[in-house]
Amino acid sequence: MSKQTPIRRTTVPQIAARKGGEPIVSLTSYHAHTAAIVDKYADFILVGDSLGMVMHGMESTVGVSLDLMIMHGKAVVRGTQKALVVVDMPFGTYEESPAVAFRNAAKIMKETGCGAVKLEGGKRMAETIRFLTERGIPVMAHIGLTPQSSHVMGGFKTQGRNEDTWAIHEADAAEVSEAGAFAIVLEGMVEPLAAKITKQVPIPTIGIGASADCDGQILVLEDMLGLNEWTPKFVKVYGDLGPAIERAVGEYAEDVKSRSFPSDDEVYR
Ligand code: KIV
Repeated sequence: MSKQTPIRRTTVPQIAARKGGEPIVSLTSYHAHTAAIVDKYADFILVGDSLGMVMHGMESTVGVSLDLMIMHGKAVVRGTQKALVVVDMPFGTYEESPAVAFRNAAKIMKETGCGAVKLEGGKRMAETIRFLTERGIPVMAHIGLTPQSSHVMGGFKTQGRNEDTWAIHEADAAEVSEAGAFAIVLEGMVEPLAAKITKQVPIPTIGIGASADCDGQILVLEDMLGLNEWTPKFVKVYGDLGPAIERAVGEYAEDVKSRSFPSDDEVYR
């Protein structure tokens, strides 16, 4: 007899069906505890490879490994019940060939229990996106500023400042959509270009430093919570947790030093 558990999470088709509808809410999360909070409000949660920089102090996302993504992906799936969880494929795990991408994407999905993967690149990744989606792996695409290519791009630069380049980004969006991606992240792109692409493609666009007209938005959680020393200009900081944590740690240190630490008969309540 087989045991069936009802699907409670937002599904990939439900996200795809939000094209032109109610804006899609999404954030990154890397741990079970923050993901459980985000889960109450987000349609999908991205376990982004930005965790290399945000959580592990790396200079770019290039050094992030598959095992690291799987470890954080598992934690986020464990901590959530409602949102679709999407896990980033890290640099070097999908570019070589569609077969390599399939092997690594399947490993991510089997080991984390996530519902989809995300990979960076437009036209050049279309064949791989088709290969994965035809074999049961839902893919979110990511175009515009693609941080894994920052060495080629010469840093983290807004794309589309020169209107002559717009056709390249429009072709990227069209090709990943035709290849079967269920949504596209538009990162670091001039506003009118992101709005234009949103009108052109039949799948939802998810903006980050792009346009309010995208079908949804994503931010790095730690950026919007004020936990990072440096935050991109386009990020609205909704929380001021960095100073709040520093205050709390400072007070704790004072209590320890002055031996005014609270004592209690019960060790754990
Ligand atoms: O890795 C990440 O956090 C991302 C978002 C910025 C979209 O890809």
